Amino acid sequence: MHLLRFDSLPAWVSGVCALWRDRLRMNPALNICLPTGLTPAAVYAELARNVDRGDVSFTRASVFALDEFGGLPADDPGLTRNTLRRQLVSLVDLPSERFHCFDPNGADIEEQCRRYDTAIGRFDLVLLGIGLNGHLGMNEPGSDAGSPTRRVDLHETTIQSSARYFEHGNLPRWGITVGLGPILAAREVWLLATGTAKASVARETVKGEVGLHLPASLLRNHPNCSFFLDSEAGALL
Ligand code: F6R
Repeated sequence: MHLLRFDSLPAWVSGVCALWRDRLRMNPALNICLPTGLTPAAVYAELARNVDRGDVSFTRASVFALDEFGGLPADDPGLTRNTLRRQLVSLVDLPSERFHCFDPNGADIEEQCRRYDTAIGRFDLVLLGIGLNGHLGMNEPGSDAGSPTRRVDLHETTIQSSARYFEHGNLPRWGITVGLGPILAAREVWLLATGTAKASVARETVKGEVGLHLPASLLRNHPNCSFFLDSEAGALL
């Protein structure tokens, strides 16, 4: 795992975006998996500005949403797909048929997950945030390292911290996530963390024991994983 440390949040955003532009230029048909949450929002805003200026393009890329919350109406602004559309997809030149996302209200979730894994093939690049309990996407502690894309129950801490994404108290208790299998099989993985709240889990991820108790720690066995930390998230390292 390569540690990429930045002195400030703006430097962190610029650093992530510079490398992302680089990956898109080297491989315009980049097959990429994207999270939502608070962490990547500034990165998406900057990348959208880059596309607007003509610095880089998504016209040949494919984007897969990393996960989705279940049990909510399709127009809930806190859903992963609505957030990704609002923060990036609707602002860039990605063809709509190459934006892939889950529909937890659809009939056969298992079949939907099988089709998702088939459509993924192999990711060129996966961006991930990190949960306070070390979860990746919605792969909670205890998830199998080879787990496929599937329906999952959220841990209580994840349910409570998701309150930040919703304007109502009807917090989702389950979701659908790209599994650790497709994540760990990606050619390249970037783990993103900012802010003091992530300092402790960042330290555990880098220095603690590698194991299923902390899904993020499994990335230390990945041959091409970079951990992007701002000074606050990296403070205990
Ligand atoms: C969301 C996702 C989650 C978040 C994680 C950190 O699509 O994959 O695993 O990345 O919970 O969330 P934030 O960035 O809000 O701290």
